Amino acid sequence: MKNFLIVLSIFILCQSCNKKAVVPTIIPQQTKTSINASPHVEALIAKMTLEEKIGQMTQFNGFWDATGPVPKKDDNNWKYDLLKAGKVGSVLNVSGAENVCKMQEVAMNSKLGIPLIFGLDVIHGHKVLTPIPLAESCSWNLDLIETSAANAAKEAAARGINWTFAPMVDISRDARWGRVMEGGGEDPYLGSLVGAARVKGFQGSDLKNEFTIAACVKHFAGYGFAESGKDYNTADVGTSTLYNTILPPFKACVDAGALTVMNSFNVLNGIPATGDKFLQRDVLKDQWGFEGFIVSDWGSAKEMIDHGFSKDLKHAAVQAANAGSDMDMESYAYITHLAEAVNEGLVDIKHIDDAVRRILTVKEKLGLFDDPYKYCNTDREKEWVYNEAFNKDALALANESIVLLRNENNTLPLDKSKKIAVIGTLANDKTSPLGNWRMGSDDGTSISVLEGLKNLNVDYSYAEGAKLITNEPSFVFEMIVEEKDKSGFQEAIDLAPSSDQVIMVLGEHGYQSGEGRSRSKLNFPGLQEELLRKIYEVNKNIVLVVMSGRPLVLTWANDNLPAIVQAWQLGTESGNAIAQTLYGDNNPSGKLTMSFPRSVGQMPLYYNPYTTGRPGPLPDMVFWSHYIDESNAPLYPFGFGLSYSTFTYSNLTIDASQKNKVMVGIDVTNESKREGKEVVQLYLQDKVASVVRPITELKGFEKITLGPKESKRVEFVLTSKELGFFDNVGKFVVEGGEFNVMVGGSSSTGIKGSFNLQQNQVDE
Ligand code: BGC
Repeated sequence: MKNFLIVLSIFILCQSCNKKAVVPTIIPQQTKTSINASPHVEALIAKMTLEEKIGQMTQFNGFWDATGPVPKKDDNNWKYDLLKAGKVGSVLNVSGAENVCKMQEVAMNSKLGIPLIFGLDVIHGHKVLTPIPLAESCSWNLDLIETSAANAAKEAAARGINWTFAPMVDISRDARWGRVMEGGGEDPYLGSLVGAARVKGFQGSDLKNEFTIAACVKHFAGYGFAESGKDYNTADVGTSTLYNTILPPFKACVDAGALTVMNSFNVLNGIPATGDKFLQRDVLKDQWGFEGFIVSDWGSAKEMIDHGFSKDLKHAAVQAANAGSDMDMESYAYITHLAEAVNEGLVDIKHIDDAVRRILTVKEKLGLFDDPYKYCNTDREKEWVYNEAFNKDALALANESIVLLRNENNTLPLDKSKKIAVIGTLANDKTSPLGNWRMGSDDGTSISVLEGLKNLNVDYSYAEGAKLITNEPSFVFEMIVEEKDKSGFQEAIDLAPSSDQVIMVLGEHGYQSGEGRSRSKLNFPGLQEELLRKIYEVNKNIVLVVMSGRPLVLTWANDNLPAIVQAWQLGTESGNAIAQTLYGDNNPSGKLTMSFPRSVGQMPLYYNPYTTGRPGPLPDMVFWSHYIDESNAPLYPFGFGLSYSTFTYSNLTIDASQKNKVMVGIDVTNESKREGKEVVQLYLQDKVASVVRPITELKGFEKITLGPKESKRVEFVLTSKELGFFDNVGKFVVEGGEFNVMVGGSSSTGIKGSFNLQQNQVDE
């Protein structure tokens, strides 16, 4: 192995990093007054009354029947009156070209005729669904992820939507939190790239194009660090975690041009995010130069009363507006109290003008001032809704999102000549694989596993075994209940022994993860664990297909079963992707973006912690950082995922002889006879630094395709961006010294090397 030692003066690096300002620092500075807006926007603002301005800062949930364009004379009439008076800036949850058009007409007929912006949670597709975002991130395929967002935008835009509340870029290390399904996993480096890809997909290169929609990066900030994984809970994090882990994906999305940001429900370090001036004005707007607007989360201004931060709704309005929250979603705080607060001098009019300037500028960028009805074309709606062109991309992404966790003795791929039994209610479910956060989609529109097998002409017998949920449709709001109905067990137990192979499809229903669905246990809900063991007693040849919205504890399965496939909730094409993977038409290439625990007590669990002062292990001693009843290691680490091909790594080279970059290269070979894809991952450890650095950090990856027996050299370039970190006051620094490098196929395996950052030194 060629091993170039080292150059790079830390002095030179720091100088250059200062000059180029590669990553801006986030130390609070003087608050800027506002953004520069167009003459048209300024002229509008000059004409607006205070009430009209506050109207633009107000967003309401839809207030007439989704199918009926005529506003009803009911309790919502006051909202309609505000709309007619031009005092609503945006509505959410109204969709369908005709509905949107009728509502837009009302706004356009108001005094100033300012168009509405229509928001909806388009999270992983609109009608045609792609995998849940956590699954998508496991593809590590940024092009497919961008395409998925672009297709979602196209379909949603055809239904009148011009603003999605996505991407969610909350880094989370706790699988108990139900919303891990909506994000890009536990790592800020990957999470930043995935978030930026999704922003680019939604917004495209031309926002005036009628198929692009505005993105909204959420939830700013710290929502994913909810204590004990319980949704809406407090987040208390140190500065290093805030700057190095939580904020980078938001910054990446802002740099990618995200037009809007949503703040969050949680208290972060003592301050509710919606009332946090440091986050919203100092960091986001001033330091990062964000020119879009911030929308509150649903009712989050009002919730500051429950947090004990605001004494009443008026106080909440004052605190949120002063902190820089530009638009109020469903708190009714601004519309009822802000004018009064401004008149009393509690909120400076310059904050109001700033918010309105930002909101109108986003509308202008979307082309709504040129054509307020550009999203209201019913012919386009007919053409693009459920357009089959989307399914091909959805299938490609579903295939790459699947993670093969275990495959002893090449159990997979299966052979069609084998006699197959399929067991598990999820195998026959056409709704659950759509996952949570599917506002526009229709029940029953996913391809089930059974249908996927049929599409591949696989003969099988099926038994449900155990029900997962029995109380539809109200299950959405139910706790996971202790299921008692074992009436389906016997049929499954009778079926299994006569089969060569059993495919068991177990996991969580699509509505058992997502917002408000935190869990204290990470097992298979209901009677599924018991069913699995009963089947195992009669046939051990079980391929376990896990459908879930989060990492589950699969320890027993890992210890006993020959093959495990993590199939998440893969969207519309779910069953096709699973069948194609089981039978080898798809060679799995997904890699985990969240660590899988051995037991729930390991939570929070992540691959890149700081080392403790007692890392151990100490063989004869108890006084080191560990559990006495569980390993420290995850069951499956971040970055892990098997393939039907076998990849080997060799010839790691590190060249630190050039200024401001360290080059790392490696050869990767596909030793098998089957074409396959591998995610080649580079991890870095800054061994000694002024602020303790994680034991390892992902700092580069490339997904490559290798034909049978083919080799490729993969090169990485580490710049100050990868070599540096934020110190405890949010200043980006690069420090010299020794770095460890590892390149391989997961965060726990690879070829290791090291280099020094020192001044004017080259060594070989
Ligand atoms: C969620 C947001 C979502 C909003 C609007 C809230 O409950 O936290 O992520 O965008 O509702 O649906």
